[in-house]
Order: sequence, then structure tokens, then C-alpha cells
Amino acid sequence: MWFKSWNQTKNNLPDQVAMDCLPRHIAIIMDGNGRWAQKRALPRSMGHRAGVEALRKIVKTCSKLGIEVLTVYAFSTENWSRPKDEVGILMKLLTEYLRKELEELHQNNVVIRAIGILNDLPQEAQHELEHAVERTKNNSGLVLNLALNYGGRSEIIDAVKKMSQDVLEGKQKIDDIDEKLFNEKLFTGGLPDPDLLIRTSGEMRLSNFLLWQLAYTEIMVVEEFWPDFGENSLIEAIKVYQKRDRRFGGIHTN
Ligand code: IPE
Ligand code: IPE
Ligand code: MG
Repeated sequence: MWFKSWNQTKNNLPDQVAMDCLPRHIAIIMDGNGRWAQKRALPRSMGHRAGVEALRKIVKTCSKLGIEVLTVYAFSTENWSRPKDEVGILMKLLTEYLRKELEELHQNNVVIRAIGILNDLPQEAQHELEHAVERTKNNSGLVLNLALNYGGRSEIIDAVKKMSQDVLEGKQKIDDIDEKLFNEKLFTGGLPDPDLLIRTSGEMRLSNFLLWQLAYTEIMVVEEFWPDFGENSLIEAIKVYQKRDRRFGGIHTN
């Protein structure tokens, strides 16, 4: 099968983005699929389908731009409380996405990773995910980090358990525990913290996303529903990010 290299379309990118100060890591709360569908009198499942299309485009744009990591919130630990049918559709779409997109992602050097309590996903989804992670693990391009059955609080609890186990087994001294060590125990271990968080469809909340990692992330909430969020929306968000003054608690002395 022949796959088009995304680099061939690189020149089509708008030039207003300063390529020397791109966010290394972009995190996205892909919200608003349901409202997008509702507005069109369509079933929510169609909104989720349209959401997958939006994801495909954004992954491609991030890859072309040379972003290092893209973390997308695809399913939260709280999303299990939705009707069974909707949960089923979301899981089916995940499996389908991985199956359909894997080769193109692989050909474009994307590394697929996942964060969350993956053991509780349906067997089929777990299987596709393991296959995708394994297939792309030696790539060196964009890291596409899928947050699946993910919750920031459960991630922190999980890290505390791992730390405690190390202490119990004598591998870790309590006094040596610091932020860096703790960071490594999180699902995101090894990845830089997000520089930019985008939430679509207007909600001003984190909904349990990356609670530890977002400590100094620039936050942007856009009104568009996720299925309407395209390449230009991402470019606009990056441009706004590039105008932000990140101080990390300090002050400018010059
Ligand atoms: C985001 O869209 C997708 C998931 C949470 C899985 P929603 O399904 O939350 O859409 P709204 O917020 O109801 O519009
Ligand atoms: C956050 O959206 C989770 C994902 C996008 C996967 P939700 O729609 O679940 O969040 P709330 O319920 O509006 O806070
Ligand atoms: Mg929502």
C-alpha cells in the first residue's frame, strides 16, 4: 500500500508561526463532539466519528510542524458513566482508528504511546493499542500520546503506589523522593510537560486531565467544537501561545 508522506505538503503551512519557539508538547481536551452532532440533529455517535477526522488532521499538522509530543484526551475515567451504547461506540472508534491509521502514522515516523488504566479497556482495543505501540516504538517523529481511560487523580495514586512499593522493597529512600523522581513514575514518565493546553467547545475546566503535568502550562480554551477544530485553528492557537509571556513564577530582570 502506498502512503503519502506528510512532508510533501509541508510547504502549504502558513508562515506566521515562529518555527524556533514552537511548543514542544501540546495537550488537547477534545471536547464538544456531542454538541456538534446535536446542532446538526445527528446522533452523538456521528459527532464522535467527526471527532476522529479532526484528530487525523491535527496529528498530521503537528507532525508537519515538528511538534515533539501531542497528548489527546480521548476517554476519561469518568466517561464510563455515559450510556453503554456511547461507551461502546467510543471504544469501537478507537480500535478502528488504530487499525486504519497505523500504517500511515508509521510511515510518517509517528510514535504511538498511551496513558491511562489500559488494562480496563476492551480486549480488542488493548490488542490494537499494544500492536500500534510495538510497531511504532523505534520511530523518531511526533509522539502521539493517547489518553485512554485516563484520569489525573488515578495516575497520581498509581505513581504513589509504585513509589511506596519501591520504599517497601528498600529500593527507594523516602528522603530522596523529589519532583523529578515522582514525575518518572507517572504514565507520562520521560515526556516533557505540556507547554500548551487547548480545550475545545468553551468549557473552562480540566476535567481530571494531566493534573500534575499542567502546573505551568499555557491554557487556551476555544469556542469551536472539536470536530470543527482544523489546521488553521491549531495554527491560531500556536500563534497566541507564542505571544504569551511565560514567567514560571519569576520576574524579568532586563
Ligand atoms: C468529547 O466530546 C469526546 C469524549 C468525551 C469522549 P463529548 O462527547 O464530551 O461532547 P459534548 O461535550 O457532550 O458536546
Ligand atoms: C473531557 O470531556 C474528557 C474528554 C475529552 C475525553 P468531558 O465531556 O468528559 O468533560 P466534562 O464532563 O464536560 O467535564
Ligand atoms: Mg464533553
